[in-house]
Amino acid sequence: MYLIGGTTHGHHQIEMQCAACHTSPFGGGEVLQEACVDCHGDELKVANDSHPKSKFTDPRNADRIDILDARYCVTCHREHKKEITGEMGLTLPKDYCFGCHENVAEKRETHKGLAFDSCASSGCHNYHDNRALYEDFLLKHAVGDVLKDKAERLRLNGLENFLANRDAPQQVSALMDAPEEYNNDPAVEEWQLSSHPSAGVACRSCHQDGSTGDWHEKPNAMICGTCHQSQMSGFLAGKHGMRLKAGLSAMTPAMARIAMKDSASHLALSCTSCHSPHDVNQQSAGFEACVGCHDSSHVNNFANSPHAGLMEQARRGEIPDTQSVDCATCHLPREIIEEAGEKIVRVNHNQNDNLRPNQKMIRTVCLDCHSLAFAIDSLADPALIQSNFSGLPTSHVRSIDMAVERDEKANQREKVF
Ligand code: HEC
Ligand code: HEC
Ligand code: HEC
Ligand code: HEC
Ligand code: HEC
Ligand code: HEC
Ligand code: HEC
Ligand code: HEC
Ligand code: HEC
Ligand code: HEC
Repeated sequence: MYLIGGTTHGHHQIEMQCAACHTSPFGGGEVLQEACVDCHGDELKVANDSHPKSKFTDPRNADRIDILDARYCVTCHREHKKEITGEMGLTLPKDYCFGCHENVAEKRETHKGLAFDSCASSGCHNYHDNRALYEDFLLKHAVGDVLKDKAERLRLNGLENFLANRDAPQQVSALMDAPEEYNNDPAVEEWQLSSHPSAGVACRSCHQDGSTGDWHEKPNAMICGTCHQSQMSGFLAGKHGMRLKAGLSAMTPAMARIAMKDSASHLALSCTSCHSPHDVNQQSAGFEACVGCHDSSHVNNFANSPHAGLMEQARRGEIPDTQSVDCATCHLPREIIEEAGEKIVRVNHNQNDNLRPNQKMIRTVCLDCHSLAFAIDSLADPALIQSNFSGLPTSHVRSIDMAVERDEKANQREKVF
């Protein structure tokens, strides 16, 4: 009733938590700005942001602020204005780069004659994310086969590291500490075959009531996060967990704005949406679980894609798991993080972290296996995304060629003078 207009794709889940953004009923612009930076500041830092606020507080660029006050997020990302909101919460017309860069072709011959609404829509630039698109990076990765010789992603080493640091593996039977009546419960065998007993995780690690010490039949499905903290914080930062983080009830497919299977509408999102609590499966978590809820053509076309062929081969044991591609390879990528002073490979559980603009997937995913040019072309092709990468990209993004051209010209000039 109080909402003054439809909320953006990014924030609709928390729209009723007004205080998430309006942290004080009094402040105006600055208060909103602080809220944006609190939640998004870190991700923009790691994005190698091409337009950080500091660029516009620099007196040399002061004239640009008159065109568009880019010091403030809400200049470009207004809220509650559904009529004027485009992809990624953008509330500006598409040719906004022109206002500040109308002279670009004077400095760069390669840019003569390019349309001004094409800077950011054709796979060449983003306003913020510049991790895989800056000139030196394009040059460094200018050559390469479509498929790399060693087409492999990182290997998970969680349990391995853990076991190496343990004194002695505990006896599995000693960890079966549930009341006797559970001896024949199917949960027992599932748990025995999981990695948990080898890591010393007993039934009561999850099933014990903290205060009374009593057996707790149905533990909270988020209990996993008490031990797996990096996975928990990733989960809470993305669309699967952001409602829980804002203190609201868990997200369900019924509340979604994107296509979901009817049969899943009542399911509440938690750790056990993808991992069953006893076998803590990681394989079905990366494909079967996802398609149990999601229902777009991109999603449904995956099963017939070449990547799914790799997944099937890995499941049959014909290729190592590091050469497989499933939904999680792209959307919950493996990454190196520091945990207790040690570098370790973990799964990033924020499926929005590399989703949009999709060039964020280049370094986090595709470059493990493909060349930069092939990745850029593929991700700039909406039809190919819809078919879940079944086939080859149909058009070519010229950014690498342009960087190479400019570099060669510069080298020739050096030789002449
Ligand atoms: C995700 C962040 C976010 C949430 C959640 C949010 N708002 Fe806003 N709201 C904004 C932003 C940003 C603006 C400024 C929009 C602009 O400048 O056009 C705004 C503007 C407004 C305004 C206009 C005030 C003014 O100064 O122009 C009202 C009223 C308002 N919001 C009410 C609400 C209410 C009520 C809720 C909860 C039901 C809510 N908002 C939830 C971000 C949010
Ligand atoms: C309480 C934390 C929070 C606050 C405050 C917040 N956001 Fe967000 N925002 C999120 C989450 C969570 C998402 C969804 C996940 C994602 O896309 O990373 C999101 C998504 C977005 C998106 C991407 C939308 C898309 O469709 O891909 C933009 C743009 C954005 N926020 C800008 C802002 C701006 C500008 C403000 C300040 C007015 C703001 N946010 C305030 C948490 C927040
Ligand atoms: C001059 C316009 C402009 C300003 C100012 C701006 N943005 Fe953006 N933002 C964009 C555009 C354009 C996109 C679409 C993706 C792209 O081109 O990088 C975007 C995308 C985003 C996204 C989603 C994609 C991503 O890269 O994560 C987030 C989150 C975001 N902006 C947050 C912010 C925050 C927070 C601020 C303020 C600190 C801010 N933006 C200021 C133009 C702007
Ligand atoms: C509000 C003004 C403004 C807008 C709007 C703007 N830029 Fe910029 N941009 C700047 C300033 C200032 C710089 C830094 C000085 C320079 O290079 O001119 C910059 C730098 C850049 C750079 C070089 C970044 C680097 O560090 O390598 C690129 C590329 C770029 N902008 C592309 C874009 C694109 C694409 C858009 C539209 C999506 C855009 N800009 C919109 C002001 C703006
Ligand atoms: C890693 C945490 C964890 C461990 C270890 C664990 N459980 Fe569970 N268990 C859960 C969660 C979470 C639920 C609740 C599932 C739900 O709400 O649907 C559950 C549910 C159950 C149920 C209720 C029936 C069902 O399947 O929903 C039984 C019985 C059970 N566990 C027995 C055991 C036994 C016996 C052990 C030890 C051999 C064990 N559990 C070890 C997390 C665990
Ligand atoms: C009492 C602490 C604890 C709880 C609670 C717990 N785990 Fe674990 N879990 C561990 C430890 C320790 C390991 C082995 C080392 C590692 O991967 O961190 C592990 C391993 C795993 C692995 C396998 C990692 C690998 O590399 O093979 C998965 C998947 C997993 N847990 C999921 C879950 C899920 C899902 C829940 C909740 C239903 C849960 N865990 C609850 C402690 C816990
Ligand atoms: C229990 C149902 C459920 C399961 C299982 C599930 N999701 Fe989701 N997913 C959702 C819901 C609900 C949303 C939020 C949609 C919205 O806000 O409109 C979402 C959002 C997303 C988004 C962000 C979409 C966007 O436009 O911002 C991606 C990407 C995603 N999920 C991928 C996956 C992948 C990959 C898996 C499996 C590893 C998976 N999901 C498993 C229900 C589920
Ligand atoms: C959207 C589905 C999904 C949800 C929800 C989910 N996971 Fe995962 N998780 C996966 C997939 C898929 C993998 C394996 C990915 C791979 O093999 O690269 C995984 C791997 C793991 C691992 C082992 C790898 C590592 O990072 O050490 C742990 C531990 C884990 N998840 C814990 C959790 C916890 C805790 C939660 C809840 C906060 C959770 N998961 C929620 C899909 C999910
Ligand atoms: C090779 C990488 C890759 C694989 C594999 C992949 N996706 Fe995606 N996915 C993407 C890209 C790229 C986008 C588009 C992001 C954008 O530009 O908006 C996307 C978009 C999405 C979206 C948001 C748009 C929509 O269609 O609803 C969801 C949800 C999603 N994927 C789920 C899945 C699921 C579930 C699977 C497995 C069945 C899967 N994806 C397999 C790369 C991949
Ligand atoms: C773990 C390695 C791996 C990762 C990561 C990976 N791919 Fe692939 N991809 C392959 C392999 C291997 C093939 C060829 C499969 C075949 O022909 O059976 C392939 C095939 C493709 C194809 C189809 C080519 C054809 O001839 O039909 C496209 C398009 C593609 N990948 C794009 C991408 C994009 C975009 C990303 C990143 C979002 C990505 N891939 C991530 C290994 C990977």
